[in-house]
Amino acid sequence: MNKNWKQKKMLQQPNWPSDDLVPILEQIQSYPNLVSIKEIKSLKQHLVNASQGEGFIIQGGDCAETFIDFNATMIENKLKILLQMSAIIQYITKTNIIRIGRIAGQFFKPRTNEFEIRNNLKLPSYRGDGINSLEFSKEARKHNPKRLLQSYHQSAATMNLIRNLTMTGYAHINNIKSWNFSPLENTEYVKKYNMIAKQIQDILTFTHHGNNSLFPNLLYNTVFTSHEALVLDYENAFIAEENKKYYDCSGHMLWVGDRTRFIGSAHIEFVSQIENPIGIKIGPKISIDDILLLCQKINPQNQHGKISFIIRLGINYMQDLLPKLIDEVEKHSLNVLWLCDPMHGNTILTDKGIKTRNFDTIKKEIELFFQIHNQYGTIPGGLHFELTGDSVTECIGGIKNIQHQDLDEYYQTACDPRLNNEQSLEMAFLTAELLQKRRNNSE
Ligand code: PEP
Ligand code: CO
Repeated sequence: MNKNWKQKKMLQQPNWPSDDLVPILEQIQSYPNLVSIKEIKSLKQHLVNASQGEGFIIQGGDCAETFIDFNATMIENKLKILLQMSAIIQYITKTNIIRIGRIAGQFFKPRTNEFEIRNNLKLPSYRGDGINSLEFSKEARKHNPKRLLQSYHQSAATMNLIRNLTMTGYAHINNIKSWNFSPLENTEYVKKYNMIAKQIQDILTFTHHGNNSLFPNLLYNTVFTSHEALVLDYENAFIAEENKKYYDCSGHMLWVGDRTRFIGSAHIEFVSQIENPIGIKIGPKISIDDILLLCQKINPQNQHGKISFIIRLGINYMQDLLPKLIDEVEKHSLNVLWLCDPMHGNTILTDKGIKTRNFDTIKKEIELFFQIHNQYGTIPGGLHFELTGDSVTECIGGIKNIQHQDLDEYYQTACDPRLNNEQSLEMAFLTAELLQKRRNNSE
């Protein structure tokens, strides 16, 4: 793979001494890759199908994975919520759901502000555990390349558990009972979920387990991995070649963030040289003229499933901009998979300066996403969430109607606010309803 990307404008990179960095990168390069080329190709095929209306993507996980929140239960919970959401949508809509975690590599964060000031002390912003620490001290906020090694090892151990759970049948639909919520957690959506889980179980028992065509993709279940391809030196250490084609084997799908996806950026150059499916975050500052250029650069052969536009416009821009984006894509017959990230355009600060998002606003953006695609006859291919299987209080609203004053109760995220387990289930029911409505209208 050529190194053209090194000559391009590269924003949001750590500043650590290259003498320290080089041996670490060499070490990572010599380690086994985290995912295989075969798996990347398999995800790509799923995305081809979803881009043509056969299947739907649920992508989700932490805004930022951390070194401290790293144990088997937490990883299991992250998988469980994705499995529960897909079981709900798949059961109600009979649509194949493809699960992609923001997991096993989401350690690097682009930041709007380079510095953070607290009590007159100005320190570098937190940039993800792969770069520095959330702790607010001079030493902790230094960019430290040794953290790349820890990111690698944690990703590898996370992959190990994901593969283990998949291989031992945890993620198999027959095991749906063990993804149940305890009867003590009996909100409306948990009850609804437990009921659906029971129905699925009954069907499986009735059909003597297994090969039920209702759940083709849930049977031999996979959770694919994804993260933002931000620190290019790190990503470059995972490049594998097959037949003169290059794959970034740090994760199955990679995305380029809204701050680094400009034309001529090092990030766009880098991802244009790899075969992985690529997500491009699209925020309200997008120039419509960039759409064609981005597609020509990253997907010159206009393959299906190669590019996903992850729309994160926010409800204030959605109605105005999404139609323009769709028009541009249609005008040039570009093949893209439309995903909606209803989180990042809708972040607000409370009076106390806590970052949060309102459940109803997130819901509204998803509804607009479906509504506009229905109107244009284009395909809403999936959703991208920041969520967790734990009962955090980070986003306001939802079934328990979390209020501003409740946020302190269990606010755990290292970066952006995530939907908690119940809010995620509620989103899954909403998504199922929207997909179902779409199907009924087109019949
Ligand atoms: C993110 O996904 O956490 C993120 C920073 O997104 P964006 O690039 O859309 O702001
Ligand atoms: Co985020």
